[in-house]
Amino acid sequence: MWLLPLIEKLNLGKMTELGLKLSAEDIYSLNKACLKDAVVIFGGGCTGEIVSSQGLLLTNHHCGKGQVQAHSSVEHDYLKNGFWAKTKEEELPNPGLFVTFLIRVEDVTSQVLANVKPGMSEADRNSAIGEARGAIQSKAIQGTNYYAQVATFYGGNYFYLLVYERYNDVRFVGVPPESIGDFGFDSDNWEWPRHTGDFSVFRVYTGPDGKPASYSKDNIPLKPKYYLSVSIKDLNKGDFAMILGYPGRTLRYNTSWEVDELLKIEHPNRIKIRGIRQDILMKDMKADPKVNIQYATKFALGSSNYWKYSIGQKAGLERLNVKAKKQEIEKQFNTWVAADPARKAKYGEALNMIKTAVEGRAEYLNAQQYMNECFRMGCELLSMNRVAGSLISALKSGDANNVSNTVASVKNSVSGFYKDYNPPTDNKSMKAMIKLYRADVPTKFQPDFYVNIVDKKFKGDVEKFVDDMFAKSVFSCQEKLNAFLNKPILKTIESDPVVLTSASISKVMSEIGNGISQFDGNLTIGRRLWIAALMEMAPEKTLYPDANSTMRLSYGTIQDYDPKDAVTYKYYTTLNGVMEKYKPGDYEFDVPQRLIDLYNRKEYGRYASPKGYMPVCFTTTNDITGGNSGSPVMNGNGELIGLAFDGNWEAMSGDVAYEAALQRTIVVDIRYVLWIMDVYSGAKNLVDEMTIVQ
Ligand code: ARG
Repeated sequence: MWLLPLIEKLNLGKMTELGLKLSAEDIYSLNKACLKDAVVIFGGGCTGEIVSSQGLLLTNHHCGKGQVQAHSSVEHDYLKNGFWAKTKEEELPNPGLFVTFLIRVEDVTSQVLANVKPGMSEADRNSAIGEARGAIQSKAIQGTNYYAQVATFYGGNYFYLLVYERYNDVRFVGVPPESIGDFGFDSDNWEWPRHTGDFSVFRVYTGPDGKPASYSKDNIPLKPKYYLSVSIKDLNKGDFAMILGYPGRTLRYNTSWEVDELLKIEHPNRIKIRGIRQDILMKDMKADPKVNIQYATKFALGSSNYWKYSIGQKAGLERLNVKAKKQEIEKQFNTWVAADPARKAKYGEALNMIKTAVEGRAEYLNAQQYMNECFRMGCELLSMNRVAGSLISALKSGDANNVSNTVASVKNSVSGFYKDYNPPTDNKSMKAMIKLYRADVPTKFQPDFYVNIVDKKFKGDVEKFVDDMFAKSVFSCQEKLNAFLNKPILKTIESDPVVLTSASISKVMSEIGNGISQFDGNLTIGRRLWIAALMEMAPEKTLYPDANSTMRLSYGTIQDYDPKDAVTYKYYTTLNGVMEKYKPGDYEFDVPQRLIDLYNRKEYGRYASPKGYMPVCFTTTNDITGGNSGSPVMNGNGELIGLAFDGNWEAMSGDVAYEAALQRTIVVDIRYVLWIMDVYSGAKNLVDEMTIVQ
């Protein structure tokens, strides 16, 4: 996960040895169009790449799924059946979706720390840094439409300025049926061998002047600074592979106490709470196609993706003894510190600060996670409290204009919520979550609605309490809310069960937040010292900074791996494997008839491997994490050979401790992507926009 301005100095030699044919300037340059100009942050948390002179963009199916879902209904089920715009006019706008291009990166550490003096209090330090960051950011965007961010690296020891440009008109162009795009669903998620066509297609538009603009039918396709060529040449084990993208978060420098925190709190809690809720959702989704669409994204990406991640990571941390490995590094550190009084004075307290902070915050962190999972995610209806809040303040203002404006904006803003809301499903989930919180969380963190309402009014019966809430609340369905909005009354909404229950929860939530923040100071200082010491301890070994949603480069090769004794996994999968997994009518492993027909006729066109099969996915030694989804995987010429979309089960602890022998990136082969677009879907026009190298 290397930083772009440093690849010339740190990585280019090794990359060239492995097969890179480009210069560092071809990848990242301030002076000319280069690979980084083709790579974007897609929406809030994925990566995408531009592949034509007309702003065509590829990302993963699971990255575009939210948009596909938003455009879907039982009548037009694009999730189930796929969608392809035949012309640009048919491409669908996506309110709220944007893509972000990186303009430049610059090390600004010395400027940021210019006014930080030794012995300064942490608060003074923070305000000196905050001021400097603000000034650097505003200077960087003067006279432009860019935005800038000074981000922290290496635990707060380094700072880089990132300047970005954002485009807000991003249209949905096409997606395969989810039986291709999400083939294998949860059973195959985070696992290899994999057979998923995890891609979707969008297009970036600009105003007629070529500048970013919000949606308008007069907008035109983006003329990008740079777009990737696409290679359909055959791939072999050992081939160079390089990824540019936006990894979100890694914890590679975390200590043994923080590993313990994951093992004892974060993972078991998530596994337990989401497991209970997911069983409730899945039952309703399988029973009703409408509910299946409504909860598709909430289930897969809002819940089960990181639920399964937690299962895998917990097992991996235990199996690979990650805590003991961290303790070993801490032992080396202690010896290094003890050897020199100056080191002792500077770093002697680092680990102790982390340890006491992590131990001190444990009970709060546990309660906070239960709060978030049970009440915030598990009780959808309670999210309407925000809407209630804006109505209450408008009604209290007594200003009729204010009231009617607020009512109009509420009507507008809640339609997305209700489109994806099935009250009976939420009712069941809420009952389970409210019971679970009471059973698992210590009394001192229990909101008082349990005693004051559930016990006093409903004799402790959570089911009756929840049924009563659904019966009485004006928020429990859109019709009721609309009726209320036509004649809003302050008293009614102030005593709405959603409002009363939420107030009781918020009170405890903020106590918990205060509880945690007592330890923030020591944790921040401890981590900063710890990482500074690690960098000083191993100056010959260049450390890369933990992922923080900034653009990084990863290089490696296409490789097999050995998941366990006596077993080797090949680096590629084929369409034969899709047919081996095929289970007619199954929720996860069904296959469209057309795919079966093409398979039977071996109609692979120019996309087949010369080795005689239709390639589907492959594995590389690249280092990626969540946020990299959709990233371009490129060959030594910088040509696109696939889209990164996952990691493998045997190395799920990789975000905390990298495992070179086990860790692989799972990639959908670009030949499968193009074959699905061209031959399967008949979207040859899109393939023709691209520059294909064969
Ligand atoms: N594990 C993948 C990632 O986090 C996402 C896969 C999405 N598919 C799914 N069935 N949930 O990048």
